[in-house]
Amino acid sequence: MERGRVAILVGSKGRGSNMEAIVRASQEPGFPMEVAVVFAPSDTAPAIERAQSLGVPVVVLPSEPEAFAQSLLREMAERNVDLLCLAGYMRLIPASVVEALRGRILNIHPALLPKFGGKGMYGMRVHEAVLAAGETESGATVHFVNERYDEGDILIQRRVPVLPNDTPETLAARVLEQEHRAYPEAIRIWWERYGKGRKASL
Ligand code: GRF
Repeated sequence: MERGRVAILVGSKGRGSNMEAIVRASQEPGFPMEVAVVFAPSDTAPAIERAQSLGVPVVVLPSEPEAFAQSLLREMAERNVDLLCLAGYMRLIPASVVEALRGRILNIHPALLPKFGGKGMYGMRVHEAVLAAGETESGATVHFVNERYDEGDILIQRRVPVLPNDTPETLAARVLEQEHRAYPEAIRIWWERYGKGRKASL
């Protein structure tokens, strides 16, 4: 059976752990999509080495927004990619890309959106805010990307408890474990619901 094709856009400073979780899941028998390419926003991104050691092709994109958008869309088309997954990418995706790929871009966020999202809410700041608010649970959210930070429709969430002695670091680690499950699960769901029927016309 023909598999769908995913591209992953990592962050310029990100570890690439979600990228790795997706690549490993895609290598399991029966997973409906394969990872066609990893996009990096800078040639110093730590995730590049990780992607290469997993045997996935890496393309470094230019940083100027217009050139970034053009290269990204060209590479997606040339490589016959169905779905773009953001994994640690911090900047806003150019509107031209969102427009061209509407419904075909996902992001992962380390909290239960719509809470604790938006501009400036990233990394440890998210977990600090969750603890400061006295929340009893947190989690991971995979959502569609639109023109605004963290506001697209939610595809799935996985929850974790916030424990009495949690620090931002312990909470982040518990959430990250769920992120690594949530992203492959979300990709499966996306393919079933939106991808496979459209493959021919994409
Ligand atoms: C993750 O916590 C993700 O939710 C957020 O950025 C972080 C990326 O981590 N968007 P990694 O690079 O995948 O390890």
